[in-house]
Amino acid sequence: MFEDFEFDLRQKKKEKLYREIPCFNSLLDFTSNDYLSLAQHPQIRSEILSLLKKKVPLSSSGSALLVGKTYFHKEAEKTFKNFIQRPATLSFSSGYQANLGVLPALAKNRVIFSDESNHASLIDGIRLSKRPYHIFQHNDLNHLEDLMKKESKPKLIVTESLFSMSGDFSDLKSLSQLALKYNSLLFVDEAHSTGLFGKNLSGRVSQLKKKDHIITLHTGGKALASSGAFIACSPVIKDYLVNHCRSFIYSTAPSPLLMIQWIATLKILKQEAYRAEILAKKALKTRRDFDLAPTKSPILFISLKTAEKSLKVSQALRKQNYFIPAIRYPTVSKENQGLRLILHFNHTEEQIDLLKKIIKRHTFF
Ligand SMILES: Cc1ncc(COP(=O)(O)O)c(C=O)c1O
Repeated sequence: MFEDFEFDLRQKKKEKLYREIPCFNSLLDFTSNDYLSLAQHPQIRSEILSLLKKKVPLSSSGSALLVGKTYFHKEAEKTFKNFIQRPATLSFSSGYQANLGVLPALAKNRVIFSDESNHASLIDGIRLSKRPYHIFQHNDLNHLEDLMKKESKPKLIVTESLFSMSGDFSDLKSLSQLALKYNSLLFVDEAHSTGLFGKNLSGRVSQLKKKDHIITLHTGGKALASSGAFIACSPVIKDYLVNHCRSFIYSTAPSPLLMIQWIATLKILKQEAYRAEILAKKALKTRRDFDLAPTKSPILFISLKTAEKSLKVSQALRKQNYFIPAIRYPTVSKENQGLRLILHFNHTEEQIDLLKKIIKRHTFF
C-alpha cells in the first residue's frame, strides 16, 4: 500500500536528502529566525498577560468576512498601520497562507516576473495563479527588464526584500522604478527584513518614496517572535483582496491571541530599537570574517556544494553544541548546498568566534 512512499524515502536517504524534524534540546541556536532574541522577552510576556486580562476571545471563530473583526484585531491593525505607515493592511494566520492567496488574486490578468531565489510560498502562490510567468536570474535587473520589454500585458514583479537563503538584499529602488516604467505592480516579501531594517524597522520598502504600486508581506514568525502575517498596500488593493483573496476569505481569521502578541511585540520593538542596530553591527563584522559580502544581513550562507559535506560539517558543529542543520536540495540548488547561519541579538562574540573556528577547520576556507 505504501510502496511508492517508502521507495521515495529510501531514495532520499541514499542521496543524503532525507529530513527529520530536529530536536532542539539545549543546543546553541544559530538556526531559528529569532533575530532580535525576542522569543523569550519577559516584558513582551507581561504585556501579553495584561492584555489577556481584557477578556480576549480565545478564537476568531470564523472568517473575518463572516464574523467581522474583534476589538483586538482592530487594535492590532491600528498598531501595525502606525508601524508600517501604509494606508491599508490585512492580517493572515501565516505568511505562507498570505502568499498562497494574495499572489493569485493580484495576478488577475497579469504576467508575473519572479526572482529565481524566491521562497517556496511565493512560488506556490504564483503556480496557483495559473497565470503566465517568467523567472528572472537572481537580482538580475537587466534580465528582468529584457523579459518585461517583451510583454505588453499588465505585469506583477515578485521578489523578497532580504532573501531567506542567500541572505542578500534585492535592489528595491531599481525594482520599484522598473515596475513604474513597465506598468507593473511590485510584490515584496519582507518576511526577513521586518523588525530589522527600514523606518520604524518596518522593512526596506518603507525607505522608498512612491509606494502605491507596491504590496508588501510582513510575517510575525521571524524577528517579531510570534507568527501570522500582515499585507500592507493601497486601499484599493486591500478592497480587492478582501473580495478575491481565497486564503483570506475561506479561512478562520488569525486568533485574537495572536493579535495581542503583535500589539505587545511592536510596542517593545519600538522601545528597544537598539537590538536591530546591534545585530546589524554583529552581522557586518561576522560576514567580513567569513569573506561574505559586507552587508548588515544576519543571514550567512556558507556554500559547501554537496549535501554530504554540508551534513558532515553540521554534525561536527552539533558535537560542539551548535545547532546548524545542513540546507540541502530542494531548498537550495543541488550545486549550492551548505549551511545557513542566522545571527541573533543575544549571540556572544565568544560563541561566534568558536563557530567560525569550527567551520573553518572543517572547510579549509
Ligand atoms: C521569505 C519567506 N516568505 C514567507 C514565509 C512564510 O511565512 P510563515 O512562516 O509566516 O508562513 C517564509 C517562512 O519561512 C519566508 O522565509
